[in-house]
Amino acid sequence: MKSIIYTETGPASDVLRLVERDVPEPGAGEVRVRVVVSGVNPTDWKSRQGTTGPDELPYPTIVPDQDGAGVVDAVGEGVDDLAVGDRVWSFISANGNATGTAQEYTVLPRARVVALPDGASFDVGASLGVPAMTAHRALTVAEDGPSRLSPGALDGVTVLVSGGAGAVGHAAIQLARWAGATVVTTISNDEKAALARAAGAHHVVNYREQDAAAEIRRIAPDGVQVAVEVNVGANAELLSQVVATRASVAIYADDGGPDVTIPVRPNMGTNTRYQFVLLYTVGEEALRAAAEDVTAAVADGALPVGEEAGLPLHRFTLEQTAAAHEAVERSVTGKVLIDVSQG
Ligand SMILES: NC(=O)c1ccc[n+]([C@@H]2O[C@H](COP(=O)([O-])OP(=O)(O)OC[C@H]3O[C@@H](n4cnc5c(N)ncnc54)[C@H](OP(=O)(O)O)[C@@H]3O)[C@@H](O)[C@H]2O)c1
Repeated sequence: MKSIIYTETGPASDVLRLVERDVPEPGAGEVRVRVVVSGVNPTDWKSRQGTTGPDELPYPTIVPDQDGAGVVDAVGEGVDDLAVGDRVWSFISANGNATGTAQEYTVLPRARVVALPDGASFDVGASLGVPAMTAHRALTVAEDGPSRLSPGALDGVTVLVSGGAGAVGHAAIQLARWAGATVVTTISNDEKAALARAAGAHHVVNYREQDAAAEIRRIAPDGVQVAVEVNVGANAELLSQVVATRASVAIYADDGGPDVTIPVRPNMGTNTRYQFVLLYTVGEEALRAAAEDVTAAVADGALPVGEEAGLPLHRFTLEQTAAAHEAVERSVTGKVLIDVSQG
């Protein structure tokens, strides 16, 4: 089978190689998936580049890409709730020796493989893992908020999503809207505004051209209860002006840089909770909850992808995986997908 591998960190075109490997056999509690579509996220290029982890690779051979969708091809001993032929999506797939989704077959623990609802495309399935699971966590950590999402769970709640045209921002808008929230999002230009509206945002604020704090306060006079934050370094001041009492700010990225200055007095006044979010360490219970709720949202048709749904797709072949990584690295607007095999 064809696999993309790397055995050292570095630039995509230097270290990613296409190789032939034997099709791996699933062990007890494992599932082999024939990958149809692999989804690429910033975490994949950051790990490959070596910017977020230790210098030494955690496994001798890494197959990149945490997210994917495909068809169950074989199951190991003890797996009785998935069968050959089932359509599935996976998350945190690249946390083993050569287990990622940039290859024709991957073997994963049962807990990382989720049934894909009827009618949902492999493109949707490959876009869920990192973005939607992270968005789920960010929307469920508020002190007064729900720990699970379902229609009505966020009724009466105003959610602020920074960067609504980003992959996580897009999923956060869709999930929050599905759960009944009023969704306000910040974007930087008209094209991204149109995408965020297509994703379902009720209110779109251009943070470069408008007085974002005044505009968000006009939309939500009592403040926002939940913020899903991509760039807290740039937005800490803004957040302190728009949060409601006992609001929660979920910080899932350091896109503005590693450091942040948080105004103490206004945040103390509102009892604001700042919650860091990293998918890899949320714990199995939170992962299970997110996978279940995200799948329920997919079954309801609430997480579509594609330009008309606010997330333009950029397609690559397996041979073009380096180019796919480079597209994510330069922050292309939308979702980068790799077509691995026929659906
Ligand atoms: N913690 C986790 O578990 C986790 C999970 C997923 C992703 N992440 C991280 O989250 C980041 C985003 O991932 P992604 O896949 O969503 O990337 P993406 O698709 O490139 O989106 C990033 C978005 O952030 C927007 N942005 C940047 N600065 C902004 C600001 N000051 N205000 C509002 N929007 C702003 C960008 O748009 P403009 O520049 O036009 O504003 C862009 O649309 C990456 O660093 C990724 O590594 C972390």
